[in-house]
Amino acid sequence: MALPLRSLTPAAPDPILGLMETFKADGRLEKVNLSVGVYVDDSGVTPVIPSVLNAERRLVEKAGSKGYLPIDGRPGFKAAVRDLVFGGDHEIVASGRSATAQTPGGTGALRVAADFLLQAGSSKTIWLSEPTWPNHPQLFTLAGFALRTYPYLTESGRDVDRSGMLGTLRSAVPGDVVLLHGSCHNPSGVDPDVETWATLGEIVAERELLPVVDFAYQGFGFGLREDADWLAGLARPGLEFLVCSSYSKNFALYNERVGALTVVAADPARAAAALSHIKIAIRSNYSNPPAHGGDIVETILTDAALRAQWEVDLAVMRNRILGNRAALVDALVAAGVPGLWEPIRRQRGMFALLGLSADQVARLREEFAVYVVGKGRINVAGLTTANLPHVVSSLKAVMAS
Ligand code: LMR
Repeated sequence: MALPLRSLTPAAPDPILGLMETFKADGRLEKVNLSVGVYVDDSGVTPVIPSVLNAERRLVEKAGSKGYLPIDGRPGFKAAVRDLVFGGDHEIVASGRSATAQTPGGTGALRVAADFLLQAGSSKTIWLSEPTWPNHPQLFTLAGFALRTYPYLTESGRDVDRSGMLGTLRSAVPGDVVLLHGSCHNPSGVDPDVETWATLGEIVAERELLPVVDFAYQGFGFGLREDADWLAGLARPGLEFLVCSSYSKNFALYNERVGALTVVAADPARAAAALSHIKIAIRSNYSNPPAHGGDIVETILTDAALRAQWEVDLAVMRNRILGNRAALVDALVAAGVPGLWEPIRRQRGMFALLGLSADQVARLREEFAVYVVGKGRINVAGLTTANLPHVVSSLKAVMAS
């Protein structure tokens, strides 16, 4: 048998993180990175937010231990993030029909979810929105799923294609898995409204589908509870689903890799059984989660003063992004850049999808040192007072031709 290493040719760089490497190596002074979804302040720096700094000070002073965490993470972390996702007084919490595992980031949660589902004998078909985060297709394919897509955006790219999405999902086979973006859809920033979530919940229940909610941006859209519109659609008696949370963005803990996988089952016994299988998926992947990021999140969420400070820190990030949206739209319109820009003002979260061709994306990078992801996904948080004029004039140049 041929040894695989002998025939390997280099793989294409990652469409998002690969761009980060190219950007770092770019020597041009005017370069602007709007590719990877990382928050920066107006000086272009990704800050350690004050609540995290204070929590870290407390952790340093506490006589801790570097012993292993349980396979599914620290109990205090698990309870705190469960309450953050659902709200502490939600029926799902009160009934005990959920179980949470601490994971390395939201990506870790997604991968554990994929492995767990296949181990548990789930349908091998997963439905992804078109478009979606480029890592979704890769992650679920490598885990062993077959991909199907549901249309997500209208022709303009600025609204949810309600009838296309719902109509397609009505044709899914019972048992199929459906990946839904909880809020701040990546890459478009366009989210379903409450009525669409309610209808989605009905379809999921009727067709007996299994939703996996990718909830990477809680609090980055309009607020912690406002960003959980999806919950009202899915929290129905008997309806089971998984939630993959990330704390990279809302705690600005990107390199600490902290996230959680929560399973919501029909009853507490089924949730506990699911967790026992999730633990096998974790043990066989990375054994048990890293502790530091989770300890920061737990410290903040379980202390009233730190929690209050964190909510302020989060609002600062969210409001800066909303301000950037408005500044971008105003600047594009003022510069007469052709396109439908106004809806970007009311979209949610870090991203906007400008709808650029591959050539335009390449020209932005090569001629103007402006880095954006495929189809013109931009990290709105990456805009600053200093770089906005260059970004807008570069967009005008590539869009005019
Ligand atoms: C993004 O979409 O840019 C972020 O979620 C970072 C990542 O891991 O791709």
